[in-house]
Amino acid sequence: MNLARRTMNAPALAAVYERAWRPTLFYLASGRTTAADRRDAVTALHLEGSKKVLDIACGPGNFTKYLSSALDGDGYAIGLDYSTPMLARAVTDNAGPRVGYLRGDARRLPFADGIFDAVCCFGALYLIPDPIAATREMIRVLAPGGRIAITASHRTDNPFGHASRMVGSWSGLRVFDNDIFPTLFAEHGLVDIDQRIHRLLQYVSASRPE
Ligand SMILES: C[S@@+](CC[C@H](N)C(=O)[O-])C[C@H]1O[C@@H](n2cnc3c(N)ncnc32)[C@H](O)[C@@H]1O
Repeated sequence: MNLARRTMNAPALAAVYERAWRPTLFYLASGRTTAADRRDAVTALHLEGSKKVLDIACGPGNFTKYLSSALDGDGYAIGLDYSTPMLARAVTDNAGPRVGYLRGDARRLPFADGIFDAVCCFGALYLIPDPIAATREMIRVLAPGGRIAITASHRTDNPFGHASRMVGSWSGLRVFDNDIFPTLFAEHGLVDIDQRIHRLLQYVSASRPE
C-alpha cells in the first residue's frame, strides 16, 4: 500500500480530514472552498426530491450528508468507502435521516446496474489503484437520465504542475491527462459533458441519456 492510501486509512487523518485537511489542501490545489464545491456538487448532480445518490469514496461523509440535505420524499444518499476509520467518522459526524454508509471497494460496486439517479466521486480517483475501472463502475450503476460528477487531478504543464507530479508519483497520487474522463464518458454514451479546470483539479460532470 502506498503512502497516500496508508494516510487515508489512518484514524488521525479521519479525525481532522473534514475540518482541516480537506479545506486547506483542496483550497491550495483548486483555489476553491469546500462550501463552493458542495454547492456546485448539488447543482452538477441536479439533486432534488426523491433522488437516490451514491457518493463513492465518501471519506468522513463530508459531502454525503450535505448532498442528502437537498433531497426529500424517498430520497437518500449512500456514502461508500473502504477506510474503516473514515466510515467511523462518517457515522459519528455526518449521520442523518437520509444518509447511509457502506464499506466497499469503488472498483467493484455491490449494486445492480442503473439504480442511482446521481453518482459522484470527489477527491479520490487519484488514490484508487484502477481509477478507470472505478469510473466504469460509477457509469454502470447510473440510471437513465442520471447525473455523474467527479473531481480529480489533472495535468498542468507549468513548474507548479511538474512539482505536484513529482510529489504525486512519490506519494502514490495519480495525475490524469485532461481528456481521460471526458473521453471515457463519451465512449460510454454519456452526454452534456462539462469539464472545468481549477488549478490542479478537474471537475467533470455528464448525463446518461433517458
Ligand atoms: C481524500 S478522501 C475524499 C473524501 C471526500 N469524497 C472529499 O471529497 O472530501 C479519499 C477517500 O477515498 C477512499 N478510497 C480510496 N480508494 C478507495 C477504493 N478503492 N474504494 C473505496 N474508497 C476508496 C479513501 O478511503 C478516502 O476516504
